[in-house]
Amino acid sequence: MPLLSWNDDHAVGVPAMDDEHKRLYQAINELYAAVLEGEERGVTAHLLRQVVHCTRQHFSSEEGILAASHYPELPEHSVQHQQLLAQVEELLGRHEQDGLTLTSKSLSFLRYWFNAHIHEDDQLYGAWLDAHEVA
Ligand SMILES: [Fe+2]
Ligand SMILES: [Fe+2]
Repeated sequence: MPLLSWNDDHAVGVPAMDDEHKRLYQAINELYAAVLEGEERGVTAHLLRQVVHCTRQHFSSEEGILAASHYPELPEHSVQHQQLLAQVEELLGRHEQDGLTLTSKSLSFLRYWFNAHIHEDDQLYGAWLDAHEVA
């Protein structure tokens, strides 16, 4: 069973952002599957780097859209992004440099974070963009 599963309830109503969210879920699920299968460290480190890359890229493009549309909650939203990215980068550092072995438990925060962030924060901007006709 994947760590994250996509359904339409996750949609924020901005097709480019929904596509990036799906890609992010896919990258996280690929990592999760490799961890469950006991893949070697080189494989899991590569997949975790992909998650960091997708996360960084997505946050940057999302913040670009929100800045261009003068979204009033952007500063708070960016803080959420920075905190989430810092946690994922910290996990990568601990895995690559400190020898931490990834487990399903060490990845579970990703499910909590991404689901909560998309439902509580990203869907707010979706509604705002829609109401202000800038989506
Ligand atoms: Fe976001
Ligand atoms: Fe997002």
